[in-house]
Amino acid sequence: MEEYFETDVLIIGAGIAGSTAALVLAENGINTMLISKGDDFTETNTHKAQGGIACLSEKEKPKDFIDDILRSGDNINFLDAVEQVVNNSQKFVKKILIDKIKVPFSVNNGSFDLAIEGAHSERRVLNVKDMTGKVIQEQFFKYLRKLKNLKILFNHTAIDLLAFPHHSKNPFRLYKEPETIGAYVLNQTTKRILRIFSKKVILATGGLSSIYLHSTNPAGTVGNGIAMAYRAGAQIANLEYVQFHPTSLFHKEADSFLISEAVRGEGAKLMNRKGEYFMKKYSPLGDLAPRDEVSRSIYEEMIENDDDYVLLDLASFAKINIKERFPTIYENCLQYGIKIDEVPIPVVPAAHYSCGGVLSDLKGRSSLKNLYVIGEVANTGVHGANRLASVSLLEGLVWGVKSADDILENFHKEKNLYVMSEISEWKYPYLQEELDPALVLQDLIMIKYTMWNYSGIIRTIKRLERAKSDLEYLKHRIVKFYQKTEITNSIIDLRDSAQTALLVVNAALYNKISMGAHFIKSSDEK
Ligand code: SIN
Repeated sequence: MEEYFETDVLIIGAGIAGSTAALVLAENGINTMLISKGDDFTETNTHKAQGGIACLSEKEKPKDFIDDILRSGDNINFLDAVEQVVNNSQKFVKKILIDKIKVPFSVNNGSFDLAIEGAHSERRVLNVKDMTGKVIQEQFFKYLRKLKNLKILFNHTAIDLLAFPHHSKNPFRLYKEPETIGAYVLNQTTKRILRIFSKKVILATGGLSSIYLHSTNPAGTVGNGIAMAYRAGAQIANLEYVQFHPTSLFHKEADSFLISEAVRGEGAKLMNRKGEYFMKKYSPLGDLAPRDEVSRSIYEEMIENDDDYVLLDLASFAKINIKERFPTIYENCLQYGIKIDEVPIPVVPAAHYSCGGVLSDLKGRSSLKNLYVIGEVANTGVHGANRLASVSLLEGLVWGVKSADDILENFHKEKNLYVMSEISEWKYPYLQEELDPALVLQDLIMIKYTMWNYSGIIRTIKRLERAKSDLEYLKHRIVKFYQKTEITNSIIDLRDSAQTALLVVNAALYNKISMGAHFIKSSDEK
């Protein structure tokens, strides 16, 4: 017997966006199910966010914050979305994060100890030292666990959205508007695939940066939501704008551990291995220039000096107690023998954030009926071509509330639109092959190298064309393999990585104009 669940709203993804939507919906009486492919709530990008959450400060006007976001995004941001994120920042941070889940943001002399990061003109980043995301996530889960209308399922991986007309056995469904009605989900423990039916689906699956060789994201962040939404027919936009964080720890065992931009906010300067501080050469804003500029400058320095990394010198410039302000970074670097209050930190850029994603309106609605997209998986227009630091947690929070409010507003007006017997059950392959991990690993590595070398910080048309043909071939092979093999997390991630990588490369090839995080070397422009 095939297992299935029915719920009012299915939320896929447990970071700040999904958690916020779950909180608002469940507290307002909506039966909500939140699923995550992780073992617990630590496998999200939110959990890894060190720096903090930007919030309009008491000292400034909304226009100051708005202008910083627009400048960072090369002015292709959607102004209404930028205004929404800024104008709601104080209200939602207070209501949800401070009053409800009680995040203990750092204070100094009775006021919030605000940090500054690249391209911010003001100290406006609320933080819990360098563990902001981790604490937010912990506080959320303490709170969410007590909500009676909310069911949380870890170790459950969404494979595909259940969507009409695609999954309908009724031939006449073709003539009605396409819509989503839930998802096919792998229960990692039983290894069975269940159908979860819901009136609304909220995708909050995060970004895609782990399709790159070096990434600050958890390993499973491969654009599952983007791939699923694309297959279901939702509109996708701006995927060429993959942001590279300038400073991840360079060490063979460190797995691109993030060195927060707040470190440069506290005075740290980048230098090459010859000991030259180089950022002023590239930007009048120096080390606090927008991320895309800093990442490209580091790349140029590495090429010019034939080096694998540059150095981040905090010890010579910090006016703070380094160990107290950055306890996580301090301990992590110490583990590799680097005392950051004494010596510079070896760093390299790493893929960090997808500024584009599934197209979303101001209420989180995608182009596919009943499908909402919030957080990094969405392209709301807030970030334009390059995201301003620490605006992502804020965007997730604001769109988490907005999507939930929209569902609440219309919920009782809407009927259940699906007839369960009309919807295809999962089809297991006739002769299911066992998964060969060596094949999965090899294909995944090929995708990661292709993205890093051909669709990375500096792109050329030639490299992108090569990436496209390699990825098309790989995707074709992976899909065949997927159709015959037992379904596991790794094969789901592999199939989605191939799909997402191809979408990024196609977007980059289509857009010949260098802007923000998308940079095509001009000599190769056609
Ligand atoms: C950081 O702490 O540098 C990361 C914050 C962000 O990406 O917004």
